[in-house]
Amino acid sequence: MNRVEGRVKVTGLATYAAEYPVEGVAYAYPVQSLIAKGRVARVDAAAALDLPGVLAVLSVADPPELAEDADAELALFQRREVAYRGQIIAAVVAESYDGARAAADAVRVEYEPADHDVSLRADHPGLYRPEVVNPNFPSDTEQGDLEAGLAQAATVVDVTYTTPVLHNNAMEPHAALAVWDAEGTLLVYDSTQGATTDRDMIAKTLGLPRGRVRVVARHVGGGFGSKGTTRPHAVLAALAARATDRPVKVALTRQQMYDVTGYRTPTIQRLRLGADGEGRLTALEHVAYEQSSTLKEFAEQTAVPARVMYATPALRTAHRLVRLDVATPSWMRAPGECPGMYALESAMDELACATGIDPVELRLRNEPETEPESGLPFSSRDLAGCLREGARRFGWERRDPEPGVRRDGEWLIGTGVAASTYPSKRSPCQAVACVRDGGFLVQVAAADIGTGARTALTRIAAETLGVAPDRVHVELGDSDLPAAPVAGGSMGTASWGSAVVRACEELKKDGREGRADTAEEVRQDSELARHAFGAQFAEVRVSAVTGEIRVSRLLGVFAAGRIVDARLARSQFIGGMTMGLGMALMEETLTDEEFGGFLRRDLAQYHIPACADVPDVEAVWLEEEDERLNPMGSKGIGEIGIVGTAAAIGNAVHHATGHRVRELPITPAKIVMARF
Ligand code: MOS
Repeated sequence: MNRVEGRVKVTGLATYAAEYPVEGVAYAYPVQSLIAKGRVARVDAAAALDLPGVLAVLSVADPPELAEDADAELALFQRREVAYRGQIIAAVVAESYDGARAAADAVRVEYEPADHDVSLRADHPGLYRPEVVNPNFPSDTEQGDLEAGLAQAATVVDVTYTTPVLHNNAMEPHAALAVWDAEGTLLVYDSTQGATTDRDMIAKTLGLPRGRVRVVARHVGGGFGSKGTTRPHAVLAALAARATDRPVKVALTRQQMYDVTGYRTPTIQRLRLGADGEGRLTALEHVAYEQSSTLKEFAEQTAVPARVMYATPALRTAHRLVRLDVATPSWMRAPGECPGMYALESAMDELACATGIDPVELRLRNEPETEPESGLPFSSRDLAGCLREGARRFGWERRDPEPGVRRDGEWLIGTGVAASTYPSKRSPCQAVACVRDGGFLVQVAAADIGTGARTALTRIAAETLGVAPDRVHVELGDSDLPAAPVAGGSMGTASWGSAVVRACEELKKDGREGRADTAEEVRQDSELARHAFGAQFAEVRVSAVTGEIRVSRLLGVFAAGRIVDARLARSQFIGGMTMGLGMALMEETLTDEEFGGFLRRDLAQYHIPACADVPDVEAVWLEEEDERLNPMGSKGIGEIGIVGTAAAIGNAVHHATGHRVRELPITPAKIVMARF
């Protein structure tokens, strides 16, 4: 089945947030703080207001009315205190985009700067233990005697890895168009991962009842987490429209996205693993150091996957956070699992090298009976199957474990493996299905952020109704539709699909219409450890002359329940793996220690993989039946593809060169500096 909106997308007819034609539209352009900490002493808008076509200047000098309890990142122009360089402190509204942009440069801002601190360090005096890490896990867990487990181990690995600030770079930059009607109801066309949740947040921020706000997001060009929460551009559009009595568009530039749409926190991760003579873990400790802003706490759940992965008599996980003069980190594909599994799976490879046990075999020997930290049974877990099938397909049995010995001219060749995992949860959702025009209409406020959600839900509805997919029309991306959770946490299809199945079942009974709300059904889900698993295999070629690294093969094998649509699933998996390749070798946002904020704020400097970087990437999956997940038997697949990829590549680089780079990204400079 092709994507149902494929034709409108490739013909340019799909309308994105910034593209809706609206009569009398004006444009707002933000003014961003040039200091990382301090106060805005004065905003002089006179010169900007004198420019042709300028309608208004919004700023902290004249705070617009917002809810008292507005989210600190969304409370625009409320406080003179600056929390980070790049924070939006003013905005110009004008007849044209270019006019607004030019006038923004003419706004004079005087600051009272203060000393800032933007550097994460494992010995930072401000580090503390957060109460919980995202979304609601205890920060620290400990079971068994860690020190005893390490003391009795035949082999101990004690290693520290770092990952840099990473930024989502959705193809469609964040944008919103806000339109107030005469009754004071607000319509926002927003680029968002959830119309319902975005509507609720915009309403809360503006102090409006939900019924007075509507969000429309029919097509969204990627998000990866950066559009999973309401971002300031949407609030700015609403405020600017209210101030000027005009519809207002805000379309962020790629560089502005780096400042105000969130990023993945940098991490410093220390792993201590102990193993007995057979490679069985005697102790596992994973401690993650991360940052948040002074505005609010965001605690990435980096060490949480260690609670899921391996059997061990002693397990300690911990998170330490420091509040810096930076923007608040946010969600980026597989928050927690992605950086955490990079470190854990790299450390497992180091343990394999230290014990002389094959890294596939080492993982098989440490398979747990039940979820290690909780003791809960797994609804299903086929990591072992993924490792075995991947090894078979990849030709792993021919692998010589000796690092740094395979050479093809200047190129050193190596292979690596890593495991992946991601939770398989679902959230309450509503849906309506009815007969219309000889076919069927299914309505749910789901978001299709490029994943193919429309297509997946069309299939799910058609299968439940027992009709051909072309008789089903799915309507989504509008908060006026039945309430739905965000496209995030790899829960979209599981959550929306559950409601669509129930609505279609009701429709079959009723003959005309079916309505569903899965709140009660989800509440009654039994207590089980629900996760998808996978195994990532990588082959790299490293130039002994330049340090250049080419990934010549990537294979992912996944056990993710029933796959709803093979073509969409493959696209999600290889998309995630490609993003993992970027994490391994290229992606890094540098923090500007001197001035605050970020350096490398565009795609000329923040490098992401292009097609030539992934000549051979393949994803396959195992048949997995798991009826205790949801009516489809599906696990989420949006995020697991990125998990483990960077570790597999890093492990392959070590196998190729004999050199272990523990600081991502693995750049040519780091290889050359190793002087192997
Ligand atoms: Mo995804 S980072 O949960 O949007």
